[in-house]
Amino acid sequence: MQFANRVKKVQSSAIRDLLRYGTDPSVISFGGGYPDPQLFPSDKLRAVYETLLCKHAHRALQYTVSDGIPELRAQIAQRMRDDGTSCTADDVLVLHGAQQGLDLVAKMMLEPDDTVVVEDPTFLGATIAFNVFEPRYATVRMDGEGMDMEHLEAVLRVNPSVKLIYTMPDFQNPTGVTMSLARRHRLIELANQFDVLILEDSPYRSLRFEGSHLPTLKSLDTEGRVVFLGSFSKIMAPGLRLGWAVASGDVLGKLARLKLAADTQCSTVNMMAASLFLDTYPIEEHIATVCAAYSRKRGLMFQALDSTFPSSVHYTRAEGGLFTWLTFPDGFDATRFMLDEALPKAKVAYVPGEPFFATTPHINHARFNFSALPEVTITSGMTRLGELLSAYLPHVTTSIEQIA
Ligand SMILES: Cc1ncc(COP(=O)(O)O)c(C=O)c1O
Repeated sequence: MQFANRVKKVQSSAIRDLLRYGTDPSVISFGGGYPDPQLFPSDKLRAVYETLLCKHAHRALQYTVSDGIPELRAQIAQRMRDDGTSCTADDVLVLHGAQQGLDLVAKMMLEPDDTVVVEDPTFLGATIAFNVFEPRYATVRMDGEGMDMEHLEAVLRVNPSVKLIYTMPDFQNPTGVTMSLARRHRLIELANQFDVLILEDSPYRSLRFEGSHLPTLKSLDTEGRVVFLGSFSKIMAPGLRLGWAVASGDVLGKLARLKLAADTQCSTVNMMAASLFLDTYPIEEHIATVCAAYSRKRGLMFQALDSTFPSSVHYTRAEGGLFTWLTFPDGFDATRFMLDEALPKAKVAYVPGEPFFATTPHINHARFNFSALPEVTITSGMTRLGELLSAYLPHVTTSIEQIA
């Protein structure tokens, strides 16, 4: 059998492969990017589904329009406006999670060998989605304020085949970093100047625990060249598989036709459930509860990092989201350390940073999730790992220095 070329580029997720190690119940895994299931609004969702199936089953179980049910599009538009982005229901396309937006935008924009600009490191789920369309990648350095705009400008100058800039400005996955206001403005200017589309992927945007609210790139968009992606996964539940795109008319129309071709529509009953949930319960209260819980968990992770990890290990102080990003000394191999030391000796797993780099892998990083595990487990897992690293790292640093 002869498969299409594009299938060769479709790899399994290195994260999922690594997460296998975390499925042993005796292992504490900081690997997954999951929300805390204890915080799912299960009772409220049960009530909502009961109402729908008892009173509105004929509509809830029927096909519906491809763009998403009108009331949910209107509610999403209202949330976007409350967040400072001008938006009407007509600007919203309901998606199977933000992940579907990554696929549809890539399908809309990319021919084989076109270039996508991504942050270095970037979200693995995005490169997995983009790879199907056989692009090249150009990576842009990150620091504590997000993408380095001077580097981006240089990359755009030497890569005329760039069609798309993919960015996660809010609590980036994997680093937890948020893009500063000045860089947001500059990014829009550069996209206008070089005539490229910006894909703003922001599923964590509502999960801010501290710091100032920053405008979406979409709200700063002057030429209709930003596609914003949002998600109900982290503020309701990922099992609903509901997200949305906001884009200007022409772009949204193209995405809507691609969605129709791909899957006809999102689940009617799930869209109605999300809509009835938003109508019945104050979602901001639920988000505040989730933020308070994640902020406490993040605090415990930071406390353990400060008190038990060697000072040569650095981490990002994410102001929200689900992750912190660790940087170990140069030469430290985070994958080998996990497989040879952390798993057998401390029974702790995490995601080594390597697969998040789209072009040149760096081995001395790791992503740690602080949302999924119970508080005591975070403290005990991080303490175990910190103690192991404290015993291991001085020894390794010496041998690295000797090699140098
Ligand atoms: C940056 C980023 N984009 C998109 C997604 C996909 O989210 P969804 O569940 O809405 O498909 C995730 C999931 O974790 C993510 O981290």
